[in-house]
Amino acid sequence: MKVLNVAVLGLGTVGTGVVKIIEENKKQIEDTIGKSIHIKHILVSNVGKKRAINTSCYHLTENIEDILNDDELDIVVEVMGGIEPTVEWLKTFLSNGIHVITANKDLLAIHLRDLEDLAEKNKVALKYEASVAGGIPIVNAINNGLNANNINQFMGIFNGTSNFILSQMTREGKSYEEALQLATDLGYAEADPTDDVEGVDAARKVVITSYLSFNRVISLNDVERIGISNIEIEDIKVAEKLGYKIKLIGQGKYENGSVVASVKPTLLPDSHQMAHVEDEYNAIYVIGDSVGDTMFYGKGAGSLATGSAVVSDLLNVALQFESDLHTLPPHFELKTERTKELVE
Ligand code: NDP
Ligand code: HSE
Repeated sequence: MKVLNVAVLGLGTVGTGVVKIIEENKKQIEDTIGKSIHIKHILVSNVGKKRAINTSCYHLTENIEDILNDDELDIVVEVMGGIEPTVEWLKTFLSNGIHVITANKDLLAIHLRDLEDLAEKNKVALKYEASVAGGIPIVNAINNGLNANNINQFMGIFNGTSNFILSQMTREGKSYEEALQLATDLGYAEADPTDDVEGVDAARKVVITSYLSFNRVISLNDVERIGISNIEIEDIKVAEKLGYKIKLIGQGKYENGSVVASVKPTLLPDSHQMAHVEDEYNAIYVIGDSVGDTMFYGKGAGSLATGSAVVSDLLNVALQFESDLHTLPPHFELKTERTKELVE
């Protein structure tokens, strides 16, 4: 059996989920791709830190050079976060012919188009399923399942942490602070949870989803944004009495050649399906001109849910580049060419 050499950058909430899934579903995964998976390196910032999994069989390193200088690598999985120096490292990997999988929406909201161009130039894959809505395969759904449609609108709950906080305040009577602490302890929140509660994380996902849906590049500043940090328990109670739920809704519309995008707390009537999306779950409506309304629902944050999306990217890269991991299959080339034309 051939070997797929993988380096994982980061062994926090998501990295641990990725390694666990590869360990626990190893046989099924390896049977699917017809290759054995070898995690050659795991990059961390502190090798001495106590880990949630047994790492004795892995090469943990604090030194990115160990990975940058390894010419046997096929795939790098970036679940570390941050923009600099992460983006420079990802560019180096792509330029060196190594496939990249990332969950890093902070970085993609700024650099997605550049990284895609670089991946295309170097005939390698750039996959980022986990960057929008955690475990929900929304990137794949828009790119593949809905590719017969023109998409002119999407809306949804894009941030698990803020939805968790609103749900816990409503259902469990927790204070805002208690609920935020719980979301952090459960691994849903970003390193700086301000991004979650002020709508920045959701806005980044709206930027990425706009690119996927409308083939238009917008920036974070183009997304009108209000977070949930000013919502009080009284607001939630009054809304409830009137038959509404408050949800942080991100949306994008493609109108007259431009994108109108926002993230805002929104009153949804109890009869609305999205009013019943609770805790760390996300839900996204995408409207296609042929298919009509579609809705995607699932866990938007957390270790195994996000790990599921990352490992799915890994399987898809291994299958797409089956015979020779550095040869671009024709359908991949067609798709990226078409995307490029539409964007230009
Ligand atoms: P964590 O903070 O839990 O983990 C980050 C990991 O990266 C840690 O293992 C840390 O090392 C390592 N790390 C960070 N900076 C460096 C560095 N400069 N050099 C070497 N190692 C480094 O983050 P998450 O797992 O929650 O998130 C990872 C990425 O996935 C982020 O981009 C996030 O936005 C994204 N994401 C997260 C989701 C979630 O539910 N948490 C869902 C979807 C996407 P050490 O362990 O030694 O501290
Ligand atoms: N902090 C993010 C959230 C993680 O709560 O949705 C998933 O992207």
